[in-house]
Amino acid sequence: QIAALQGVEVGSLKLAVVTTAKYVIPPLLSEFCRAHPNIEINFTVGNRAQIIQRLTDNKDDLYIFSQPPEDAELVCYPFAENKLQVVAPCNYSGPNNCQLADLAEEKFLLREPGSGTRRLVDQYCRQNGVILNKVMIVESNEAIRLSVASGLGLAILSQHTLANSRQDDLKTLDIKDFPLKSHWQVVTHKRRPISLAASAFRDSLIDAFNQPEKITK
Ligand code: PGA
Repeated sequence: QIAALQGVEVGSLKLAVVTTAKYVIPPLLSEFCRAHPNIEINFTVGNRAQIIQRLTDNKDDLYIFSQPPEDAELVCYPFAENKLQVVAPCNYSGPNNCQLADLAEEKFLLREPGSGTRRLVDQYCRQNGVILNKVMIVESNEAIRLSVASGLGLAILSQHTLANSRQDDLKTLDIKDFPLKSHWQVVTHKRRPISLAASAFRDSLIDAFNQPEKITK
């Protein structure tokens, strides 16, 4: 809510987000920067493990995770849903309308250990006794999406990472229990006093997702 932010004219905002969240933040950041051109912004993107390290080192004002670390000193506000889908090349003709276990012999392109997306997939597989036998690690959502589109294998990706793909590049498979759901959370640490700029951006994030028409550029 731009009007509500107008007292925030100077200072800095240090924001660190997990790689999947980088798809949803830029329009909001751009709106925020237009409203507050004198605030210096530092926007860092990394996988979950890298962003946890930054949190431990007290590097930033705000963090975005879908799975924040367990820590009583964190303040977490959920603001949007994150859904993981099983995706395949558009000409895929293997098993579909089935369980993940039925895809155990398909090649899967999965994110690296340290990724929050990978962590959710591993958790699901562990809890459901699924073993994916042919896994290739790819450390980038874009590289995974493009590799799947070129026929290299299947993947489990956040729906946010698919938003910019051509409609006919990929198909989403209909797999029992999918999409796996988690929530983006904007996180601060109690030991770091929150700046006016940071709290304004946090509020704009929460507002924007509760009232989606405000995200429009
Ligand atoms: P990732 O995190 O970018 O490390 O996969 C995404 C998430 O935490 O949902």
